[in-house]
Amino acid sequence: MIVAGSASQALAAALARELEEPLAAAEYDRFPDGELLAAVPDAATVDAGATDADRAVIVASTVSSDAHLELLQLQDAVREAGVGEVVTVLPYMGYARQDEAFEEGHPVSARAIARAVSTGADRVLTVNPHETSVCEFFEPTATPIDAAGRLADPLPAELADPVFLSPDEGAIDLAETVRDAYGSGETDYFQKVRRSGTEVEITPSDVDVADRDVVVTDDIIATGSTMSEAVGVLRDRGVGRVFVTCVHPLLARNAVTKLSRAGVEAIYGTDTIERSASTVSVAPAIAAHL
Ligand code: R5P
Repeated sequence: MIVAGSASQALAAALARELEEPLAAAEYDRFPDGELLAAVPDAATVDAGATDADRAVIVASTVSSDAHLELLQLQDAVREAGVGEVVTVLPYMGYARQDEAFEEGHPVSARAIARAVSTGADRVLTVNPHETSVCEFFEPTATPIDAAGRLADPLPAELADPVFLSPDEGAIDLAETVRDAYGSGETDYFQKVRRSGTEVEITPSDVDVADRDVVVTDDIIATGSTMSEAVGVLRDRGVGRVFVTCVHPLLARNAVTKLSRAGVEAIYGTDTIERSASTVSVAPAIAAHL
């Protein structure tokens, strides 16, 4: 059976269709004191007769503190119902970017989260974590899934002499993956220095972008500071159209406005986080690992 976290209902349904497995009727309630109650009332019966009747696949992007707690409850609910194997799919793993103690006295938040999730999981899958090394924080086997290639799908077929850029060196693999999936084009990356949570400084690459279409790819767009800064640099250099793509379209606060004002042609993301920009589904990529 497939069990959806409340932030991943469309993706869980797509995965259930892809795998032809039943979708459980998860429910998400809250007590008057604010405590959450996520439950799977039909957990003991929904799978009767299914091929993998002994397995529950929980699909839950941990986009908020509530989503983390909900996931722990869903894991426990299916275990309580007698399921043999609990596979936990984190399409988007929250806190993954806090993968080290940045200052004395800070936690390694990604490790703390991974340990908690591990207590209820026999296996973990996660899509394009910020660094794949985060998978080592989980106790059961945790597998990173690369879904970046699908980001080329919504791009126009005829891009003008395209350049595929990443906002920093760490994301160049993603830009190359999108270029390879598109079929042609140059790749390069900017140098990025983060000044604060919402301020970044981008140093342009040497590539000539004048009158060329540019696709900028990153793993995540959170506040949109990185991308809007990168698009501004491209505009100053006479770029043609600019498309921004990312695996995780978190698009917090006014990110969409920032990007629109920066002059992007379109924002394409996947459904690891369900937003209006989530035009690409990672369900087939996840299904291939189940
Ligand atoms: C950081 O290295 C990530 O790859 C992203 O570039 C970053 O998290 C994006 O954040 P924001 O949209 O807030 O600039």
